[in-house]
Parts: sequence; structure tokens; C-alpha cells
Amino acid sequence: MFVTVLLLLVTLCAQGGHGEEKVEAQRPGHVSVVIVGGTGDLAKKYLWQGFFELYVSQVGSGNTFSFYAGGLSPVDQATPVLFEILKAAFCLKHISEERCAVLKEQFLRLAQYRQLKTLEDYQELAKHIEKQLQEEGMAEAGRLFYLSVPAFAYADIADKINNSCRPTSGAWLRVVLEKPFGHDFRSAQVLASQLGNSLKDKEMYRIDHYLGKQVVSKILPFRIENKKFLDPIWNKYHIERMEIVLKETLDVKGRIAFYDQYGVIRDVLQNHMTEVMTLLTMQLPLNLSSSEEVAHNKLQILSSLLPLGKNQAVIGQYQAYKTEVQQELNKTKDHISVTPTFAAVLAHVDEAQYDGVPILLISGKMLDERVGYARILFKNDIFCLQNHNNIHCKPKQIVFYFGHGSLKYPAILVSKNLFKPALMDEWKEVTEHTDVSVLGLPISDYYVQTPTVQREAYAELIAHIFAGHKNSFISTENLLASWGLWTPLLNGLASSFPRIYPGGTDNEDLLDIRLKGNDISYNSEVVIISPDQMGGTSANNFQVMQGKYRSADMVSAWAEELVERLAADLQEAAEAAVREGGVFHLALSGGSTPLALFHRLVLHHFSFPWRNTHVWMVDERCVPLTELESNFHSLHDHLLQHVRIPYYNIHPMPVQLNQRLCVEEDGAALLYEKEINKLVNGSRFHFVLLGVGYDGHTASLFPGTKVDGHEESLVALTESPVKPHQRMSLTFSAINQAHQVSLLVMGKGKHELITQLSRMKDNPNKWPVTGVRPANGRLVWYIDYDALLG
Ligand code: BG6
Repeated sequence: MFVTVLLLLVTLCAQGGHGEEKVEAQRPGHVSVVIVGGTGDLAKKYLWQGFFELYVSQVGSGNTFSFYAGGLSPVDQATPVLFEILKAAFCLKHISEERCAVLKEQFLRLAQYRQLKTLEDYQELAKHIEKQLQEEGMAEAGRLFYLSVPAFAYADIADKINNSCRPTSGAWLRVVLEKPFGHDFRSAQVLASQLGNSLKDKEMYRIDHYLGKQVVSKILPFRIENKKFLDPIWNKYHIERMEIVLKETLDVKGRIAFYDQYGVIRDVLQNHMTEVMTLLTMQLPLNLSSSEEVAHNKLQILSSLLPLGKNQAVIGQYQAYKTEVQQELNKTKDHISVTPTFAAVLAHVDEAQYDGVPILLISGKMLDERVGYARILFKNDIFCLQNHNNIHCKPKQIVFYFGHGSLKYPAILVSKNLFKPALMDEWKEVTEHTDVSVLGLPISDYYVQTPTVQREAYAELIAHIFAGHKNSFISTENLLASWGLWTPLLNGLASSFPRIYPGGTDNEDLLDIRLKGNDISYNSEVVIISPDQMGGTSANNFQVMQGKYRSADMVSAWAEELVERLAADLQEAAEAAVREGGVFHLALSGGSTPLALFHRLVLHHFSFPWRNTHVWMVDERCVPLTELESNFHSLHDHLLQHVRIPYYNIHPMPVQLNQRLCVEEDGAALLYEKEINKLVNGSRFHFVLLGVGYDGHTASLFPGTKVDGHEESLVALTESPVKPHQRMSLTFSAINQAHQVSLLVMGKGKHELITQLSRMKDNPNKWPVTGVRPANGRLVWYIDYDALLG
């Protein structure tokens, strides 16, 4: 039964007051809230409290509610559990005890538990909602599903909601999802596309609870409100570095089944800390309430971050973790885990404004204190000869203090040698100080402000979801961009051993780090890896091996050393060509395998002769170059934009002519061929980098497509069995004319292919890669141990 609570229509506040967000029409009516996983930990700790606060805030708005906890347990078992949880809900300070008791009583009457397992359960729920709407004669405002369940269940539940629980026309559907949103770029993409089959983008609310923290949500408003002070100093000339730090004292006991597959980078750096980093560095939106503009500016900064390689991270693991894993995962005593519980990562934004500004992201479990903050430390060019206590001699910094730590409350602190900041809406200044220091400065050296009423992040976000404000949530594009940044690093670290630390204050200086240019390392050299941590694996054998593969030269090593070697060989070839003829012609493939090479070149080969290098494409997908799928787009993002190569030395394939893509009559292949003939001596590239696909394709020459039927042409339009089907590719004539061709093959997934190919006779139409046979040049296979040995 509904308790209908009517009265004034409360206008939901738009964030920040910078114009209105385009919010879905919000007509008052009945709202059904369904928490799937409604008796789980998160629901118990935060969600029901958040929904209770929402309910209280909506009294008198004309909206009515029913609340459902969904779960797998039978109703009779779970109902008492639910009511125990609900009884713990409390009112914020401004509501009297009597009033609170009445509201709580109403709230309890609106709630019920339902088993939600099968499609029929969801259909029953929908019927129940509709029947009640009819009986009460209420118009429906919307349905809010909060999925507080493991991510593997998302696609299935979204499908069931889509099939059976969509509200009738005019009412909204909002589905809230909790991280993890994938494990890496690929899995995030798969999950996004599965969800996309059932839900529209505007219906999905991906939560990052850090965006609901009061201090985090004020970063952009603070930057806007204090623009006149910040504009002149928010740049590389004034900022020494940015630090985003989340230190925790707890371990991960009880969560190991989840944590051991994720680790600290996936657990907090890829999401919470990346979000804070974007808020600090993104271009300020003209309209803070426009979720499109905010998401767009975030995306822009995410794509400007320099790639993260192994030299931009250090990792650690608290000592007891190993035993906890053995116990919780039922493993034997010799089982080791390399999952990091601590990480420090050094990021850089490749934009004129932030050129060279180090951005440190640090987080770990079992550290000495619980604290979270983002600090912008400014350069101080004042030299104090005598009075070091003078405020001008002290650190100049702005601290967004998320909470905990010595201060204990959330706050924004601006050191008094910078400027007096504007007071945020619904915030108050703190002037009475206890004897406490924050990041090297006594609190009295700061202007301090804190929220008037402290609110939990979840309550804040639930209010935004209800209001249909999307700018505190993660868009699909931004999610993928963030995984795009972190995935190569995670892959690079997969076989690294974390430094073992004892935990708590015993860590002493073991986790101190040192920044050197673009690189980060532990400050102390001691590498504490006990012999049992090595577990007798052969991973300490890092030698590079030379040999023969398919009667050509082969270099093999672990992935990282292999890429180092290929980068060194490439630079040597480039230098030799430049010495001889003043120019180096390099043709590069698309795909993900060469990304590690590009990162290596960007981060370690500063003397590479880019000014004399011409970059050509081995192949291209017939999509506009601005699309993520385009090989050139990826090459641009991962390599070209980070090196000093003249624009006129870059030669993307002209897949788009006359406003259309890869149409034979437009003669794009011939056009590219002519450009090669014009610039490349004898049309012989100095270096062609190729990869091999699982089906044996190389460049965009696919099996079963008459790959050697292009006669003398250097460039051809080709067909791929996978999307996008149309491609442009160098032909065997162009490839086999080159001075050197390198075939890079990496990863366990390619082991089967490498084994098969080793026995295969040349048969380019079936196995195109076997058609790579440079006539007067050298072929070298670069195969990592994973691919070679499985
Ligand atoms: C969660 C992580 O997302 O964030 C936890 O899964 C971490 O491992 C927590 O402890 C930190 O959030 P907060 O709000 O406690 O700082």
C-alpha cells in the first residue's frame, strides 16, 4: 500500500547554479526504487540510508515511493534481514526526533523484500507495480533499479529489466551500476556493449562514489569560483606537482576473492583517482550543469595523458597478503600472488598548460594512516634568508581534503600565501583551529572551509540520480578512455613482483618514492623479494634469445625486454638510414600489439631521429581518421602526438575521399601509392613493422581473399572478415621490397598460432603472413616467450 505524501513541489537544485542541465522531464508521480542486492553490504552500509534521505527530502514534493529490496534469498528469510537494516536509518540533524520517527515509520511501510532470480520474478514485480499504480490511481514518474550485485550479473539483470520492467510511456527508467566496470579495456568494452543491448545510455548511471564526496564534487565549482586567482597560476610555470593520495590502514581480508583479481590499480586508481585527476586538470566547462560538456572536457584530458609504462609505476604488497590469499582462496603454501595492494603512479598531461607537471597517484592498503586528499603544490620562488617561519617561505598549496586523517573532516584548504578563496555554497569557513598540521603546514596557515552539513557520498549521488543529473556519473566513452590509459600499464605490470611491505608504521621509508623526469622509482634500493615470493618460476630469467623461426632471424625475450630490443633495433635502423640518405621511411601497423613499442619509443628514445623520419601506414580501416577504430587515430594517440615529428612527414592513408570511405573509383589506393613513389627511394621502405592476427593475417591481407592477387600495386583496397570489413593495405609487393621487415608477436594467446606457423609451408592465401618474404631485405621475427613457449 502507498502512503501518499503530498504538499509543496520542491524544486530540485541544479548543481552549482551555472545554468540548467538538460534533465529528462521530471513530472511528479510514483517512483519505484528497486535495490537488487538489497540486503548486501553496500545496501546495508550506505544505500538504504541514502534512499531514506531521498525520501525525507521528497516529502511534500508530490512524489510517492515504494522501495523494494531484491535478492536471491527466499522472502521469509530475507524480509527480517531487510527490516533490521532499515531500522538503522537515521535523520540528518535538522529534523526533530519526533518528525524523524514518523518519517521512518512511513519509510518502513513503503518497503518490502522480493525474490528476484528469474525473468518471471521480474515480470511479477512489474505486474505488482502496475497493479498498485492502478489501484491507487497514481501516475508513474519512474523506476530506479540500483544493481548492488557483482558485475558479472549486470548484463543478465539489465536484460531482464529491459524485457519485463520498463515503465509505461512518459515515465523514466534509471539503472544504477557499481564498479568494477570491467577488468581492462576489452572487458569494459564487452560489458558496455552488452549493457547497451538492453539500456539506453541516458538510462545508465555508473557510480563512482568519489564523485559524490562533498570535496570532490566541489573541485570544479572551486576552480570556477576562484578563476581570477587560479587562472594565472594553474599551469606548468607555477605548479610544482599534483598529488592524489588515498592511504588506508585496513587490509583486504574477507574481500580477497574479488581483490586478488583486481588489485589497487583497478580498485581505486583506474576509477576514483583518475576521476579526481581529470577534475583537477580538465578544461573548465562553460556550463557546469551540462553533463555533455563536463564529460567532453574530461575525455579530452584523458586522451591527452601520456601513456603509462612500467617506469611510471611502482607497486607493493603488504606482507600478510600472501597468507590471506592462501587461506581465503584455499591455496597451498607455495602459492604466490603478484596482485599489488600499493601503487604509486606518475602521470603527465601532454598539453602546453601542464607540460612537465608531475601528477602523482598513490594508494595502498595497510599504510600508516587513513587519509584521502588531492594537493596542488605550487613553486615557491621566494628565497628566505632568515625568517623561515614567515608565511612567504612556506609551501604554497591548495589541498582538497576528502576526509579522515589528522583533520577528520572534509575541507578545502588554501595556504595563506596564495589567496583568500571564495566560500562555496552551503560551506562555512573554519576559523577556530586545533593544534593540527596538514601536509607540512599548521592549520592556521590555511584558509579552511568545510561543508555546513556533512553528507555521505552515496546519499549525495542518489539525490543526483533521482534528479536525473548525469554529470556525477561515468559515461561509456570516459570509462573506456580511462581503461585505455590503464590497460597497457596493467599488462606491463602483470609479471612484475611487488615490493613486500610489513604494514602500518613499520613500513617506515620503504614505500618512499623518487621522481626523476618522467620516471618514478622507490627511493630505497632494497628490493624485498623473498625466495618463496619468486616461487621457483623462471621469470627471473630475463635474457634475450636469438634464433631462427621459419628460416628467418628471430629474437625472443619476455615481453618487456623484447619491446626494448625492438625499439633499440628500430632506432639503430633509423640512425643508419638518416646517416646514409638523410631520411628514414617507416611503415607501421595498427592493432594493439605495437602499442607497447610506441610507449617505449615515447618514453625512452628521446634521441630517435623523428625530424628525419617519415611515418607511413601499413594498413587502415575504412572509417574516418577521427574514430577510435582508425589505426591512424591510435597511432596518433599513442605515438605521433608525443614525439617531435614534423606534420608533413606523417602519411595517413586517404581512406576518406569525396566524403565517402574507400570507394574503388575514388582511387585512394593509387593516390597513396603515388605518394610512396614520390617520396620513398625506389619505393623501398627502410622498416616495415607487421603483426600477425590469430587467423594468420598480416597488414590487412586476410586469409581466403587472394592476397597475392594485387600484382605490382603497392597499395590495395582489401576485405576483412571482421568489422570494419573494408580496409586499405600495403600489398606484398610493397612489403617485400622493404629493407627490413619485422614481425612482432606477443602474448600467450598467439602460442597456438606460432606453433602452427612453425610447421606451415608458405601458403599466403591461407596464411597471409607466410607471404612476407623480403626480396632484398631482412625479415626478423620478434616473438615474446609467452607466444613462443605458451
Ligand atoms: C572502494 C574500494 O571503491 O573505495 C575500496 O573498492 C576502498 O577498496 C574504497 O577502500 C575507498 O573509499 P573511501 O570512501 O572509504 O575512501
